[in-house]
Amino acid sequence: MAKETVLVSGGAGYIGTHTTVALVEAGYDVVVIDNFSNSEPSAIEGVEKILGRKITFEEVDTCDKEALRKVFERYDFSTIIHFAAYKAVGESVSEPLKYYQNNLVSYMNILELMKEFKRPNVLFSSSATVYGNAEVLPVTEQTPRQPATSPYGNTKQIAEDILRDCCNAYENFYGIALRYFNPVGSHPSALIGELPRGVPNNLVPFITQTAAGIRECLAVFGNDYDTPDGTCLRDFIDVVDLAKAHVAAVNRMVSGKMKEKYEIFNVGTGTPLSVLELITRFEKANNLKLNYKIAARRQGDVPAVWADTTLANNELGWKAERDIDDTLRAAWAWEKHVRGIK
Ligand code: UFG
Repeated sequence: MAKETVLVSGGAGYIGTHTTVALVEAGYDVVVIDNFSNSEPSAIEGVEKILGRKITFEEVDTCDKEALRKVFERYDFSTIIHFAAYKAVGESVSEPLKYYQNNLVSYMNILELMKEFKRPNVLFSSSATVYGNAEVLPVTEQTPRQPATSPYGNTKQIAEDILRDCCNAYENFYGIALRYFNPVGSHPSALIGELPRGVPNNLVPFITQTAAGIRECLAVFGNDYDTPDGTCLRDFIDVVDLAKAHVAAVNRMVSGKMKEKYEIFNVGTGTPLSVLELITRFEKANNLKLNYKIAARRQGDVPAVWADTTLANNELGWKAERDIDDTLRAAWAWEKHVRGIK
């Protein structure tokens, strides 16, 4: 039987590289596209080293519809995983048009071409940000979304709604939105990982850069929340587990096992960890001390959010498996690899 091919947009990015590896390991062919706007060609080399072979790659900006059209003309795939997007929450507040333009125009191009070329399956990267500050925890897929507090979050909500409407309206058009919680860690080979440009916004890259001596001190944003130790609670999901959730979702789409034309799944561990707990686990797992201090709350942070993963467990047959200590060792191994630290 011929292998199914999956188009991976933003495939040179953090989650895109890990998912590409997982797809190929699961027996899929991939066509990876990226414009390297927030990634490096070395990411593709890392993927190829892990896999021990070349992958099909095209340098394409998904906002350039004619360039994208050529990809649709050249390759026969039934499924796209659409990762390509900007993701810095703070920047989206100061540069909303940049976010709406890039994240929604690229997405519309993809959806229009999927329809035009009769390619049925769209897997969209959504986010737990859609739940906002939820009243009841953990959140299920039925937990009401809250009005977005950033243009970035708004692009996720709008994109979910566009996908739902397309699935309702068009024959042979199917969508899955995966709502990621907090992706962390790296492939155990340390050949791929997150490559933030400038000062990292996210916790784990800031931790690893502090451990590497690139940042002097990690600021813990607030210890006066109504949580057990006063710091925020998050659901930190290993990126390798997250990648496997994509494979499970693609399997479901291509084997015709979807129960609705548009489905949503939470992708998390189901277990919350506080910011301070994560720091302590990082220190222990890697046998080092981090320089950190308590600082003021960061505007827009929710006190706590974690996933009810029952639906993904039962329907996708997927479950987070990686141990958080292994995850934090992998995160540090990757930082050391990038910095050339022994
Ligand atoms: N934090 C710190 N210091 C830092 C960075 C983060 O204390 O230097 C804290 C934050 O205050 C928060 C926690 O660590 O309590 C996690 O922060 P991240 O920035 O790593 O992640 P967020 O939970 O804010 O955001 C992530 C993704 C978003 C997504 C959101 C959904 O980065 O893309 O989850 O909940 F929208």
